[in-house]
Amino acid sequence: MAWQRKDLLGLADLSLDETETLLQSAQAFKPVFGRSVKKFPTLRGKTIINLFYEPSTRTRSSFEIAGKWLSADVINVSAANSSVAKGESLKDTAKTLEAMGADAIVLRHSTPGTPNYLAKSCQTSVINAGDGAREHPTQALLDLLTLKEKWGSFRAKNVLIIGDIRHSRVAKSNIYGLTRLQAKVTVCGPATLIPPGLERLGVSVKEQLENELLQKADAIYVLRLQRERQSQGLFPSLREYSKLYGLNSDRMRHTKPDVIIMHPGPANLGIEITTEVAYGKASSIREQVTNGVAVRMAVLYHLVGGGRQVVDLD
Ligand code: CP
Repeated sequence: MAWQRKDLLGLADLSLDETETLLQSAQAFKPVFGRSVKKFPTLRGKTIINLFYEPSTRTRSSFEIAGKWLSADVINVSAANSSVAKGESLKDTAKTLEAMGADAIVLRHSTPGTPNYLAKSCQTSVINAGDGAREHPTQALLDLLTLKEKWGSFRAKNVLIIGDIRHSRVAKSNIYGLTRLQAKVTVCGPATLIPPGLERLGVSVKEQLENELLQKADAIYVLRLQRERQSQGLFPSLREYSKLYGLNSDRMRHTKPDVIIMHPGPANLGIEITTEVAYGKASSIREQVTNGVAVRMAVLYHLVGGGRQVVDLD
């Protein structure tokens, strides 16, 4: 399909065609990972700015690697060391970067909807790298790619998402993407950490992590427990949470032999998932990280390069 979108703001408004196009392009970039020289000329002369108002290791670094492998110039701006610290508004900051010739701004911000606001204010492409608890589209795309590489088709596959769904942008974007690709999604967590109305998105909601849920799952996606929520009294204690929802070797005994274990990172090892499970044979966490680069290459290729066929992606 011919790519039309200027921005990537979320998976909620991405069509099936667009989702599949991004996944196919990401898959086509995967062979580059085995090469000694990992460079395409596709985005030569283009400038990508990573504008991060929240901490990040994976997303920021992988956008930087993806941009550099596509020969773009990539600049990192962290809010703490920019004129934001002197009171400059988000819009002024973005317009300043645009005036310098930025072709894309990759934005992470704690306020939901900020990428949408910037996308309306700027000519340059805006890519959402996580906005509050709303969406994290490239994380979900890399998760979808990881599953697609193993399954081929998502139809009738059961994905169990465990943890703090309410505050998780990763869960929201994954729910949009997985249901669009015909996977069956179940979320499980304390009632205080599950937002109302998820059933309307075609998701099953469970409060208890029963063995039956583990037995049925083809993939189990463990979310980071946002420990800052503990002070808000949304769950009794880390110990209790770990006991009721933590993925450990005991629980793994009830899963399918070929179950896929995923986590977006950074993980609280020993709380939502044990080290043994996070890096055990069923884990795809490292593949998720690798696929983050491929997916971000695909996103930059379509949004900034206009899907220019400088490289043969077939
Ligand atoms: N998964 C994720 O967004 O990780 P970072 O916060 O390290 O980017």
